[in-house]
Amino acid sequence: MQQKKWILGNWKMNGRLAQNADVLSGLLKQPIASENVFVGIAVPSVYIGAAAAQVSGSRCVIGAQDVSRFAADGAYTGEINAAMLQDAGVQFVLIGHSERRQYFGENNAILTEKWQNSLNADLVPVLCVGETLVEREAGLAESVVAEQLSILDGRELSHVVAAYEPVWAIGTGKVANHEQIGAMHAFIHERILSLCGNNVKIRTLYGGSVNESNAADILTVPHVDGALVGGASLKADSFAAIIQAAAKIEAQN
Ligand code: PGA
Repeated sequence: MQQKKWILGNWKMNGRLAQNADVLSGLLKQPIASENVFVGIAVPSVYIGAAAAQVSGSRCVIGAQDVSRFAADGAYTGEINAAMLQDAGVQFVLIGHSERRQYFGENNAILTEKWQNSLNADLVPVLCVGETLVEREAGLAESVVAEQLSILDGRELSHVVAAYEPVWAIGTGKVANHEQIGAMHAFIHERILSLCGNNVKIRTLYGGSVNESNAADILTVPHVDGALVGGASLKADSFAAIIQAAAKIEAQN
């Protein structure tokens, strides 16, 4: 996973076998083969096997949207551990997406376990952080994000992948402006350096209503190392256009 910009899709709880196969085959027909862009899609867990088989040999990898807090196999009905995800062909896992925090009560204690389990199974954890509108308006955006990043405290990590997704920008069509994105990405960068030491390689993706019209603009903001794309990753053409926007920016660098 050496490439520069990362464009990750998050299908959330959408899709069916046939529809997923259509999206992936549409995507694989497009020119996504840029050296400089790492492409992945986090699919619903029940579809991981089919999706991983379909993208095998391409430049697109498959991720999971969640992982169990329990590492070992055993009596945890309904759970899927990191080793199973790895076995099924997953390469990265979203950790602490705001929808998991909101609807499933995921807190830092749980997310610390999920983060560590993913690393132990050689999966790349993508730590999702972001404030709500109420928190932003109360001037708490940075302190909320700092608290979410605190699960990294004191860890000797060589790489950290984070995704800044302001909750008020997810699925709403509202995108944070350049200043808001730039300031928060710079803050996240500094914060991770102070938590993990100066040798850590940091990649921070922006997420929240990224689409083919705004991607090029967002991806040029300093410290924006890619995008986490929800709705627009469900359409092959839109997702491919975002990947191409990233490739074009990298080609100019
Ligand atoms: P969105 O979702 O692109 O539909 O806003 C992003 C996300 O939640 O990861």
